[in-house]
Amino acid sequence: TKAILTGGGRATRLRPITSTINKHLIPLAGKPMIFHAIEKVIEAGITEIFINTNPGDVQIQNAVGDGSRWGITIRYFEQTGGPQGIAHVVKCAEHFIGNDPFMFYLSDNIILGSLKPLVEKFSSGNSDCLLTLAKVPDPDRFGVPEFDMGGRLIDVLEKPKHPPSDFAVTGIYLYGKDFFTAFDHIKKSARGEYEISDIHSFFLKNRYRVVTEEITGWWKDTGKPDDLLDANRLLIDLLPLPVTSNQMPIVRSGSVQIGKGVTVGANVLLNGPVIIGDNTKLENVTIGPYVSIGKECNLKDVTIEESIIFDQVTIDAPLHLKKSIMGE
Ligand code: G1P
Repeated sequence: TKAILTGGGRATRLRPITSTINKHLIPLAGKPMIFHAIEKVIEAGITEIFINTNPGDVQIQNAVGDGSRWGITIRYFEQTGGPQGIAHVVKCAEHFIGNDPFMFYLSDNIILGSLKPLVEKFSSGNSDCLLTLAKVPDPDRFGVPEFDMGGRLIDVLEKPKHPPSDFAVTGIYLYGKDFFTAFDHIKKSARGEYEISDIHSFFLKNRYRVVTEEITGWWKDTGKPDDLLDANRLLIDLLPLPVTSNQMPIVRSGSVQIGKGVTVGANVLLNGPVIIGDNTKLENVTIGPYVSIGKECNLKDVTIEESIIFDQVTIDAPLHLKKSIMGE
């Protein structure tokens, strides 16, 4: 019933957006990225979540709160001694976990589908670790599993130059209490981090039971701007209920989700799927497909396609934005 979620890090590959906002709060399909992670974890039956934050950063606490909006408990912790890798994030939550099994979820991983079957498989078996794998075109960006000739998992390598398979180990892990035994045996890598892959490698070399499950649906580690746009696109595609033309005469096609208090002026065309946040004002705009607009924006004379627009953005120029991310 417990999960540790990441909420820290510098996200330098997403600058300048992440110069002012924690990466995990970037809006995807109208919600902060970390809300998607939290909701996936809750849907799998988890009721206690521990989130790590950067020292002194209260953005995540302010946005997420104590979990009461979802009817669960959320608590926060910091990495002692600054950033030292994601295995160290887990180590810093040891006092919350004790001897209980737990899920570790990197909140910048976006997936489709339910995590419930994974949790059930892990709880009903007697394994020490469950890893989720996804086939990727660029395994050298990830932890990569190595299999022997018989297809048995024998090692996990972190960002190898010559990947031994075309799978990535995704950032959704399940562990038993021996995580902390493994942690005591690993050392910092050349880049000065306690690597999560070294935990897995320790398990495999010391005959702990590691099981894998392939994620065959969509999975994305949102490390780069293009990944954010892809994730936004995918999540917007899940929007329910296309709005019919007589309810919303400005909609040309597709699903459109419109917040409270949205003001629609002359010449507004929405090509779904599109999300418009509360109290946003629109006039002489064409928006969509695959656009999410935040709350309290003021948009005039602009055309926007396949983009993410944060809260409180004002655009009043004859621009055509495509594949863009606009911060506050
Ligand atoms: C981390 C892990 C890597 C894993 C990836 C999944 O990498 O170190 O093993 O495959 O997450 O998202 P990072 O994205 O922090 O570089």
